[in-house]
Amino acid sequence: MKYNITIIGAGYIGLTTGVCFANAGHKITLVDVDKEKIKMLENGKSPIFEPGLSELLTESFSNLSFTTNYDEGLKNAEIVFIAVTTPSKINGEADLSFVKSASESIGKSMKSDLVIVNRSTAPIGTGKMLEKIIQSKTKYKVSVISCPEFLREGTAIHDFFYPDRIVIGAEKNDTKAVELLEKIYSSTVKNKPEFLVTDIKSAEMIKYASNSFLATQISFINELAILCDKLNVDITNVAKGMKMDSRIGEKAFLNAGLGYGGSCFPKDIKALIALGKKFGKKLQILEKVNKINDSLIDFAFSKIKKLLRKNNLNLSEVKVCFLGLSFKPNTDDTRESQAIKLLEKLCAGGAKNIHIYDPVVVRKNGVENFVITKKLKKHMAKLLFCKTLDEACNKADIIVLATEWEEFKTIDLAAIKKQMKTNLFVDLRNVFSKNHLSESGFDSENIARE
Ligand code: UDX
Repeated sequence: MKYNITIIGAGYIGLTTGVCFANAGHKITLVDVDKEKIKMLENGKSPIFEPGLSELLTESFSNLSFTTNYDEGLKNAEIVFIAVTTPSKINGEADLSFVKSASESIGKSMKSDLVIVNRSTAPIGTGKMLEKIIQSKTKYKVSVISCPEFLREGTAIHDFFYPDRIVIGAEKNDTKAVELLEKIYSSTVKNKPEFLVTDIKSAEMIKYASNSFLATQISFINELAILCDKLNVDITNVAKGMKMDSRIGEKAFLNAGLGYGGSCFPKDIKALIALGKKFGKKLQILEKVNKINDSLIDFAFSKIKKLLRKNNLNLSEVKVCFLGLSFKPNTDDTRESQAIKLLEKLCAGGAKNIHIYDPVVVRKNGVENFVITKKLKKHMAKLLFCKTLDEACNKADIIVLATEWEEFKTIDLAAIKKQMKTNLFVDLRNVFSKNHLSESGFDSENIARE
């Protein structure tokens, strides 16, 4: 059975969801207020870099249509997904203005009773609120259910087709809406995931709790890594031993490094902390999780300074080769990227000559697509965005690896060293062992990896 599905929001979640549903044969209409984005999509071009997305967009193009107009977008809709952004407000709370405005527009434009699925990460209670907003604008019956997404950037298509679980939050009597959603997913995903049908608030909390727990694992291992660094204990061995416990698991987020970034972990933790404050419960662990993550920038900076000092070099006099800008490999997304925060710290800390290379953010998109942060804007004269790794390493004194792209894991260290002026390497994602770097002639620092 194929359905007419409308998706509001053609961003990382909405576009990936729409293209995957289209690939399964459903008729998808993507609605987005961004005219540029819709124009690109109408020309078959993906506005975002996500491995495999462009190919799938081309392959499924006949099942896809794009519009900025809600009346047009909702004309034949049998079900509507809301997949718009919920960024952080200054006080950490989730900014719901985009989901609210999308809900109002849906209410005004809907032409029949509708099931509305909220895919956007949203605070507890948002589902009910959206239902009230939509119902206030239409005479048709509205039922809002929550279906949080668990897609990781860089592997979003795989994660969509092979979900661990599909969480559906609905009112007890909303069985029709739940059955419809189960049918749509069962006819799309390529594995047999568990469906967890629960109440809306539990579904909303599952999303926040999952992301917060994943980030907690990262800050746990990073805090331990700072101690292991002092004890000359190899944190990668410690993580390996931990993952062998089936209650921790081999996929646990225990890779020590520069910490987490992205458009989810930082904002979801802030939103959960803000929710706790609002209801009088201080979430002490999560407050620490964010603080530890933030502290990694200073820790990394101190590693760079220590290595330079040991070689009688001064940050203001050296050429830095800075590798990786995206918040993780296989994405062009630099939102809340720890690499960018470290770059800002280097510039503020005296660096005058930084050559930057990132396989996608610079090479594929060029600098114009890279959103220069406010702090970086005043340091642009110190930065050179290079199109190749060689250009960035040429005559460099020190390499700083900030994002563990596959391209960096396979570099010919001996060849790179030949191009450099000095032989310093700060590996902030523990891509190489210290021994391997030393055998290749480098003097290096990393995050507690021998
Ligand atoms: C995350 C969740 O994984 C996903 O389920 C949710 O839907 C959206 O948020 P994403 O932010 O795209 O996905 O990337 P993820 O792979 O989770 O990595 C997040 C950050 O943690 C990255 O900066 C990554 O470098 C970092 N990380 C991850 C670590 O530092 N160590 C780890 O062991 C794992």
